[in-house]
Amino acid sequence: MDLEALKKRAAEAAVARVRSGMRLGLGTGSTARWAVELVGARLAAGELEEVVGVPTSRATEALMRRVGIPVVELDGRGVDLAIDGADEVAPDLTLIKGHGGALLREKIVEVAAQRFIVIADYTKRVRVIGEKKEIPVEVARFGWKSTLRQIEKLGSAPQLRSNDHGETILSDNGNFLVDARFGPVEDPAALERRLLQIPGVLEVGLFNGLAHLAIIAERDGRLEEIR
Ligand code: A5P
Repeated sequence: MDLEALKKRAAEAAVARVRSGMRLGLGTGSTARWAVELVGARLAAGELEEVVGVPTSRATEALMRRVGIPVVELDGRGVDLAIDGADEVAPDLTLIKGHGGALLREKIVEVAAQRFIVIADYTKRVRVIGEKKEIPVEVARFGWKSTLRQIEKLGSAPQLRSNDHGETILSDNGNFLVDARFGPVEDPAALERRLLQIPGVLEVGLFNGLAHLAIIAERDGRLEEIR
């Protein structure tokens, strides 16, 4: 099966767990977009009622409006269920997220979720977090070069994220995004803490202890659940 079909398979399995009346947290990226589309389709078919969602990005908000999922703000109630993709998924459900740039809103929503389901195809699975991908970091624009230097001192070569034309990308929150390659990270919780201690670091794309379940679509279409 091609990757797109696998992303959809994983999203279908997560969306099957959505119930009427739920408040959802809806993720960002090419896998999460399937979940948004499928929730919209179930609402349109009358299989679900009174489902609302908190989007984790402007792109997801636009898609939700297109497919007819009522958009609400995150308030003190949090969300019943968050569904989102990931860039890397480790066996203990540590994640790297944020290659789509939405890490800050994603973490705010997912920490407030009663249940957070990660959906991914097999290419996202790693043995040790950080073994394939850089860790995205959202940083304040003020003094960003100094902030990058501090990140570098922790043992990485951080790169300011830019588009194909070499223009610096801003997050939905108006901040810079940095990608820091650390290689395999033995203690991701400690690294997350150390990064967050740097003034100017606003959020880190290491998600420790947030996901309750990962649904991974294997190459042959079989679904594996990690909890
Ligand atoms: C968005 O900022 C990310 O956290 C995405 O969830 C992550 O990058 C996975 O995206 P894809 O599903 O497009 O690979």
